[in-house]
Amino acid sequence: MLELEFPYKWYEEGKARFVAPIFPETKAGEPIAPTKAPVFYNPFSKLSRDMTIITVSTYFNTPITIAEPLAGSGVRGIRLLLEADNVKAAYLNDINKYAYKVMNINAEFNGVADRVETSRMDGNIFLAQHNLPEKRFAYVDVDPVGPPVRFVENAFRACKPGGMLGVSATDLAALVGTFPRACQRKYDATTLHSEFSKDLAIRVLFGFLARTAMRLGLGVRPLISFYHRHFIRVFVAVERGKSRARAMIGRLGWVGYCRPCMYIESSPLDEPPTRRCPRCGQRRGLAGPLWREATSDAEFVRQAAERSSDYKEAKKLLSKLAEEDTGIVGFYSASALARWLRISPKSPRKIAELLRSSGYRASLTHIDPSGLRTDASPEVLKDLLTAA
Ligand SMILES: C[S@@+](CC[C@H](N)C(=O)[O-])C[C@H]1O[C@@H](n2cnc3c(N)ncnc32)[C@H](O)[C@@H]1O
Ligand SMILES: [Zn+2]
Repeated sequence: MLELEFPYKWYEEGKARFVAPIFPETKAGEPIAPTKAPVFYNPFSKLSRDMTIITVSTYFNTPITIAEPLAGSGVRGIRLLLEADNVKAAYLNDINKYAYKVMNINAEFNGVADRVETSRMDGNIFLAQHNLPEKRFAYVDVDPVGPPVRFVENAFRACKPGGMLGVSATDLAALVGTFPRACQRKYDATTLHSEFSKDLAIRVLFGFLARTAMRLGLGVRPLISFYHRHFIRVFVAVERGKSRARAMIGRLGWVGYCRPCMYIESSPLDEPPTRRCPRCGQRRGLAGPLWREATSDAEFVRQAAERSSDYKEAKKLLSKLAEEDTGIVGFYSASALARWLRISPKSPRKIAELLRSSGYRASLTHIDPSGLRTDASPEVLKDLLTAA
């Protein structure tokens, strides 16, 4: 029996078997959000951890040291040690005393204690202590409850050039425009509520990472970004140098969305869109600064997919991401298009095929099964869909 100050249970995830608190459950047997638990462990974030293991395994081809400044039970770092064959050591830190105790028990139990360095301090202090080049990590994972913003700058400082950062955000209400002022305050960006809000959420978070990186003389390159259930997660390569930092400016910009005429416009940072829609003259929603370019690297996604056979859900997500053209900002939902055109809804896959055969870019999106990304204008969509 372990001596813990709270009711606990042994869980299994991937190759790890570990201790975490027992969660109250709903009648349907689903655990209730564990933010108030003495130690954080959310089984619904398994996909985030699976994707971390796959992404880290795919990106690095030499043995590396990773850091988890907000480690909770330690399950992510321990799984990286057990399942990613290129991770040789992990630094696990959490401010919570119970988390500190539990991560040590879990490291010991999984036979990786000799490859783990644990600490209990504020995540920013932990990261700042690893600012010097010889102290930096190849991979830093920022996995908070809520917004990651307060840890991002120090996470870059603690990341080696050529390394990788994994960042999650669970404050979706702010990022998707339900609480626009919260987004403004935390991410220093405007957002708008729309069918494609989760795409914008990824772009606002990405934009925040790029703007923080460039201030530090760094650039970020997208590897994989996705939305799932209650969070978004972004993996970026971190690159050093003035030209890389300067290049960020050209990748940032704005989005204007006019609901009445369905026009999605993306424009560069130095050309903010007008409040009035240039097509129909109506007032429209604006969002930015945000990342205007691809949020996942198609080739990297394909390489990651090849390593995903042991991870069913991640494999499914990667196969969707491999088909997705994230270079197109926003998407149309097939039902919104049908309402707009007063036609019966058509399958987004069929519409995408139709658009591609007419020379336009078009793809589905992992964010919404009824979503359609395309560079075709609403007029083109109207002509094609009403003729078909
Ligand atoms: C979402 S949980 C981490 C979950 C873990 N990464 C996983 O995959 O299971 C966030 C953790 O951050 C810790 N935390 C909150 N504020 C912190 C701070 N300022 N410094 C360090 N840890 C902090 C919490 O105690 C909690 O364990
Ligand atoms: Zn318009």
